[in-house]
Amino acid sequence: MNRINQILFHPKYQYALEQNGVWERERKFCRHGIEHFLDVARLAYIYNLEQGLDIDKDLIYAAALLHDIGRYQQYELEIPHEKASANLADEILPECSFSEEEQAQIREAILGHRNKEGRENSGSKLDSLLYRADKMSRNCFACAAREACKWPEHKMNMEICD
Ligand SMILES: [Fe+2]
Ligand SMILES: [Fe+2]
Repeated sequence: MNRINQILFHPKYQYALEQNGVWERERKFCRHGIEHFLDVARLAYIYNLEQGLDIDKDLIYAAALLHDIGRYQQYELEIPHEKASANLADEILPECSFSEEEQAQIREAILGHRNKEGRENSGSKLDSLLYRADKMSRNCFACAAREACKWPEHKMNMEICD
């Protein structure tokens, strides 16, 4: 987990995490903080084990930790957050001992995490894993803001699923 903690404690990561918190302080819908990132990382790692995908743990955790990290730039500058997050990943990962090949894989997964088409079936294994874990991490069945949520009902997690 050494490289993952390098991401976590990177000044740019910490700044972005704080900004996400500031912008979402009053948000009643899903937030994009460290709890979400770790939910996604752990779910993705469980799926990785269950499906025998054999994806490197650092790749999974890095993609999960970074996939929404640029969310504040969507609020502030209207930059789609998958792009903002991928750009931040490009700045952070080279300073956390990730190879260029690993950076490219993580970037791809981040850029595709909002796009179902091509991710669940034809994207890379990491892309599919991040997409699924991200969606499955949300506990819609227990959400007080569900009625006003823009997620289509068929996408909502209305019970505990594996
Ligand atoms: Fe997202
Ligand atoms: Fe997310």
